[in-house]
Amino acid sequence: MGQGVLTDTRFADAGLARRGRTLHLARVSLAAIAAEVGTPTYVYNAEAIRERYRTLDGALDAVPHRICYAVKANSSLAVLRLLRDLGAGADIVSAGEMARALAAGFSPDHIVFSGVGKATDELRRAVRVRLGHLNVESLEELHRLAAIAEAEATDVAVGIRVNPDVTTDTHPYISTGKSGIKFGVPVDQVPAAAAVIAAHPRLTLTSIAMHLGSQLSDTEPFRQGVTRLLELAEGLRADHPIAVIDIGGGLAIRYADEIAMEPTRFADAIVPLVAPTGYAVYVEPGRYLVGASGVLLTEVLYRKHSGGKEFVVVDAGMNDLVRPSHYQAYHEIVEIERRDRPMVRADIVGPVCETGDFLALDRELPDVESGDRLAVLGAGAYGFVMASNYNTRPRPAEVMVDGDRWWVARARETIEDLYRTEKVSP
Ligand code: LLP
Repeated sequence: MGQGVLTDTRFADAGLARRGRTLHLARVSLAAIAAEVGTPTYVYNAEAIRERYRTLDGALDAVPHRICYAVKANSSLAVLRLLRDLGAGADIVSAGEMARALAAGFSPDHIVFSGVGKATDELRRAVRVRLGHLNVESLEELHRLAAIAEAEATDVAVGIRVNPDVTTDTHPYISTGKSGIKFGVPVDQVPAAAAVIAAHPRLTLTSIAMHLGSQLSDTEPFRQGVTRLLELAEGLRADHPIAVIDIGGGLAIRYADEIAMEPTRFADAIVPLVAPTGYAVYVEPGRYLVGASGVLLTEVLYRKHSGGKEFVVVDAGMNDLVRPSHYQAYHEIVEIERRDRPMVRADIVGPVCETGDFLALDRELPDVESGDRLAVLGAGAYGFVMASNYNTRPRPAEVMVDGDRWWVARARETIEDLYRTEKVSP
């Protein structure tokens, strides 16, 4: 691990390979993209995303199902359009993501809206466009939704996102299905929520949903969660036209030595539970579909020796990719041009004015120098979407690669973009 070179096939299915000395994504040289677009730049491989989608779709073949891509993982319109073209639905968490999903061409009917704090205006917009499933996360939200449906004289298909109280083995910030955290309606409040829906002529309960957490390698929590959802659904079925069991996202990918959640293993755990019931299964994967497919290109600015330690200062910081700093997440970092240099151990740090601004700590990598370019792997999910303008740094460009073609899917922000709407006085 951490060799700074592509030592195994971990990212082979992302379409990463060396041709000669140069790292390619699909058939495009990452050196060529960096030279033309500059750094930092996110690059995604369209075909890798398609392959992932098809594999999961095939694994779920035995049950009626819909893969609702979690837009939060990577909301680039180019990514959304390609998933829509494959037949995916979308899982959204804000009016902004709804606008993106609609702009990319998703049918409102195929969109699921979850989120613990939907504002009144967001609920109203969702009702107006007649989203397929509005997943409520509290009784109070349900009452607000009922009032909006009434005022808009519009029928609404409601899902109850349940907190199934299932323990998962992931980072605490991204574990979402355990009692005592903010997400979902507690199991004991589900009958009351269903009763509110039944009493309201504009609301119909069509789905029971959960999302257990992200980067889950073990199928057992899914088995427990689905079992709980099915118990709840069966108890409500007589009074409600429940058609969908939405089991959320969370399928793990392999950044370092984690166990990836292979679609067949996932399907083997849940299909036997759901198939006899006749419900359709919705899944909401984000990371699984796009995580491995993306890389972040960055350039070495300086080498530095300080306090007995080696530093590689690069032009991508925590504002561009926050995962290492925020979750202590591991991302493999490799040279774009292999130069057969000896290995060193160094912290790979960004330009931002915080000690917590790093891409990797104590990492073994080739003895790179200023001007060398690196690729941070596994950056397709929760990369650009979590980027910020901290330190008044424009957010990176995004590039899509498809076979031997590539295009700038989103232009790099300019510095002027960052203060265009500001006023210094009344
Ligand atoms: N559905 C719901 C309701 C969610 O909240 C999420 C993710 C997903 C689906 C997709 O989960 P996935 O399949 O991608 O694991 N920023 C963190 C991950 C946050 C996940 C939030 N919810 C990270 O960088 O690891």
